[in-house]
Amino acid sequence: MKILAFESSCDETAAAVVEDGRKVLSDAILSQADMHAIYGGVVPEIASRKHVEAIAALAEQALTDAGVSKSGIDAVAVTCGPGLIGALLVGVNFAKSTAYALGKPLIPVHHLRGHIAANYIAFPELEPPFLALCVSGGNSMLVDVAGYTDMTVLGATRDDAAGECFDKIARVLGLPYPGGKPMELLAEGGDDTKYPLPRAKVAGNDLDMSFSGLKTAAVNLVHNAGQKGEALDRSSLAASVAAAISDELVPRAVEAARRAGRRTIVAAGGVAANKRIRGDLERAAEDNGLRLYLPPLGLCGDNGAMIGAQAYYEYLAGTRGDMSLNAYANLEL
Ligand code: KG4
Repeated sequence: MKILAFESSCDETAAAVVEDGRKVLSDAILSQADMHAIYGGVVPEIASRKHVEAIAALAEQALTDAGVSKSGIDAVAVTCGPGLIGALLVGVNFAKSTAYALGKPLIPVHHLRGHIAANYIAFPELEPPFLALCVSGGNSMLVDVAGYTDMTVLGATRDDAAGECFDKIARVLGLPYPGGKPMELLAEGGDDTKYPLPRAKVAGNDLDMSFSGLKTAAVNLVHNAGQKGEALDRSSLAASVAAAISDELVPRAVEAARRAGRRTIVAAGGVAANKRIRGDLERAAEDNGLRLYLPPLGLCGDNGAMIGAQAYYEYLAGTRGDMSLNAYANLEL
């Protein structure tokens, strides 16, 4: 089954053709990151406009690259949330009209389910059940994936996402947007114990996370050093931030897997590209006898292929959208 899938939840416009959930026939992506970099973060109105300009050409490119005609497509899939509402609406409306015009089923896909499904593309043998650590610019969650469409959130951030934390600290350090990768490069050779940063303990569900205190602590540290004219060891600060974020995520992922009775951890989302977090996950998995799947870097960030992968399993489970399908800035998993 060949699915034409669209993704436009943030600042990447993407269209892909995926066969039977696992085989990527094409994956066309246009990133707007350079455009938003001038402002230090995503400007929603600009994102929506750029999606409108790009999406039709990307759809054509995805079909051409896949060597599939419009009539060779079996279904159309789209991210319907969560994300920036104006950005999502572009993909949703384009997918609706494409499905309608081609007379094909429409499959709505949750963005984070897509991030998890990126691993099905990279690892043909991977099947649920497993514990997923989903870490992106907008979300941080621990998800028990009992089946392809049967998921339970075991813990989530109460405030900022891990990616947001990297991005905002990067901004005060004068690094370009998105800041995750530049922070990773800056951290190289830094002393991750030099700046003691807070690790949050959240009341109630101890698998929930919090990154806003850490973000504020690091931002204040930079500002205070600037005001006092003190030299800042930027590399060590970046390393200390990565260590603190990893400490929020990795032990909780292991504990969530233990509580859910899962022997496999799967990482997903843009922040899953981070070297420190990947290394800590590897060590923790080995220490606890867990199998670990780390998506290749190219499949960590937003892309259309991951939406096409998840859409296949949604289709098998009977998920369908119709012409009343809407986009949702916040959407339960
Ligand atoms: O999954 P993604 O592309 O978009 C969302 O769905 O949010 O994630 C983007 C986030 C950004 O916050 C970016 O700074 C972060 O992923 N990121 C990283 C790295 N590469 C991207 N964070 C830490 N280390 C990286 N190497």
